[in-house]
Amino acid sequence: MKSIAVLGSTGSIGRQTLDIVLAHREDFQVIALAAGKNNMALLCQQVIRFNPELVSVPDEDAAKQLRDLLAEISPAARPGKSRSLPEIVFEGPGLEAVASHPGADTIVSGVVGFLGVRPTAAAIRAGKTIALANKETLVAAGCAIMPMARQYGATIIPVDSEHSAIHQSLCGWRNTDIKEILLTGSGGPFRTWSKEQIAAATVDDALKHPNWSMGPKITIDSATLMNKGLEVIEARWLFGVSAKNIRVIIHPQSILHSAVEFADGSVVGQMGVPDMHLPIHYALHWPERHASREVPLLDLVKVGALTFEEPDPERFPCLPLAQSAAESDDTVPCVLNAANEVAVNAVLRRQIRFAEIADYIQRVLDLHQTVSKPSLDDILEADRWARQAANELLGALAK
Ligand SMILES: NC(=O)c1ccc[n+]([C@@H]2O[C@H](COP(=O)([O-])OP(=O)(O)OC[C@H]3O[C@@H](n4cnc5c(N)ncnc54)[C@H](OP(=O)(O)O)[C@@H]3O)[C@@H](O)[C@H]2O)c1
Repeated sequence: MKSIAVLGSTGSIGRQTLDIVLAHREDFQVIALAAGKNNMALLCQQVIRFNPELVSVPDEDAAKQLRDLLAEISPAARPGKSRSLPEIVFEGPGLEAVASHPGADTIVSGVVGFLGVRPTAAAIRAGKTIALANKETLVAAGCAIMPMARQYGATIIPVDSEHSAIHQSLCGWRNTDIKEILLTGSGGPFRTWSKEQIAAATVDDALKHPNWSMGPKITIDSATLMNKGLEVIEARWLFGVSAKNIRVIIHPQSILHSAVEFADGSVVGQMGVPDMHLPIHYALHWPERHASREVPLLDLVKVGALTFEEPDPERFPCLPLAQSAAESDDTVPCVLNAANEVAVNAVLRRQIRFAEIADYIQRVLDLHQTVSKPSLDDILEADRWARQAANELLGALAK
């Protein structure tokens, strides 16, 4: 029986993780949960259902709301052990306490954005196995996080479907056997749109992903192809290859989740239906394979044709921006990530247009004085600086 702690339990990755726990009660129990404060009723239901020892919320007000919600449900209506309520902690240290809970075997890092860096670092210091969905941790801080994982003997199993596919393709082989990583992506909702159409795209157009149902930030990143660029940086750190050896390929059907071309010319990939339950199931069960009750099976005959295209850097300028940042061992990827997070939030709040994202990020990058071979503290400072610069730019644009 593995004990699981989930960071971001009310989000898309968190909810699907808990589906798997429910479908495999004999294999998993939930020991700790962390969430934001946008879905308190759902968090309350999760506490009642999974009976964790520890729950983290962002602030005191959210902790009070959760306590009140739990108190409304009479103990008699709570199943089994959930009659005794969990310890509730809040703010940053709460998230880190969940990530390093002494009883947890696997930590699912499913929060979104740079917020994932500190708790993932805490899980690493505690030597945990981390099922990592939060790609921004490696994008912004890969150069500090990967050596830490080696130092503390922590294991990182990727949850991103592409990186899960690469992890599976690499089983038994060394990264020195790799000629090229073939990182696939659907191309997002604007794959067939002209530059002029993309220039007029609205946030609602960008939120209509053709194949995947995900949280709002990654859905916008998929529409700009920034998501693919962030994944190049993530793959670089996870698999220890140069960004030059990671090729992005557009594959609209999202069936081949990624592949590795080896030195002898063999290409080994992983296929499956486009459903995040599959890579989460793999990461939770790793290093074993268990039958899946929650993922529909792939019928290749029904799929018919698989097609592949080159990405278009002209229509999707965020991709080359991130690919060029992926080459560096400095604070540029961290600043790119922070500027992108601020820009995506501004798009979601309808403060800037979708088509302005790349230009906005470039302007923040132009202001940045890079720090090479940064420590985790340098990265935290670069992130703070970049958010301030990005928000000042946003303020100037609004005038
Ligand atoms: N969704 C996918 O299919 C998918 C696929 C591949 C990779 N990923 C990666 O996985 C990560 C999560 O994505 P997502 O789509 O699941 O995001 P999401 O649906 O927006 O969920 C984010 C989660 O983080 C929680 N959160 C927000 N602020 C918090 C705080 N201060 N403390 C603790 N928790 C907080 C949210 O709580 P609230 O409910 O209160 O907002 C929610 O539970 C991202 O890095 C993304 O790139 C996602």
